[in-house]
Amino acid sequence: MNNYILRPMCANDVTQIASINSDIFLSLAWSRQMMLDELQDDSKHYIVCTEGDRIIGYGGFSQILNEGHIMNIAVVNECRRLKIGSTILNMLLSKMRQLKIDSATLEVEEDNVNAIAMYKKAGFVEQGKRPNYYGKGRHCLILWVHI
Ligand SMILES: CC(C)(COP(=O)(O)OP(=O)(O)OC[C@H]1O[C@@H](n2cnc3c(N)ncnc32)[C@H](O)[C@@H]1OP(=O)(O)O)[C@@H](O)C(=O)NCCC(=O)NCCS
Repeated sequence: MNNYILRPMCANDVTQIASINSDIFLSLAWSRQMMLDELQDDSKHYIVCTEGDRIIGYGGFSQILNEGHIMNIAVVNECRRLKIGSTILNMLLSKMRQLKIDSATLEVEEDNVNAIAMYKKAGFVEQGKRPNYYGKGRHCLILWVHI
């Protein structure tokens, strides 16, 4: 994490974020406008990881009372396995603790072994499954952790 900086996401970032989204999440990608809408919402908290002017990863959560719902964490392909995703995750969990949130949850596609490994390493455990959440035959796991 030598030359990387983590900071809150701002409106100027959303063009790069939308491009990362479409590269990674394809048909499920959130658009520029959807990301702008997220930033307008006081219950949502997003951070980016930058290297110079370039955004190489981001993540965010939504606060619902004492729960933090992780909306997304993504790292550009060429910067993976450098602990950027887990650092973003830890920063989101730390922000949740500051907000007196006591548990975190998320949905992850059941065959997304890399993300599931990252979340389990951070203490998340499987608590349920939503069939066809990402489309027909694409199920998600529901993970939770007390923080
Ligand atoms: C999931 C994702 C954010 C992980 O980011 P990352 O910066 O590569 O992850 P880290 O380097 O912090 O890895 C943390 C842990 O996750 C697991 N992990 C991550 N990538 C892995 C891989 N390719 N193979 C096996 N384990 C992996 C490992 O346990 C790893 O710890 P380790 O390196 O000590 O073994 C990244 O792969 C990504 O952007 N994926 C596409 C978007 C996505 O699926 N997001 C989750 C949506 S819920």
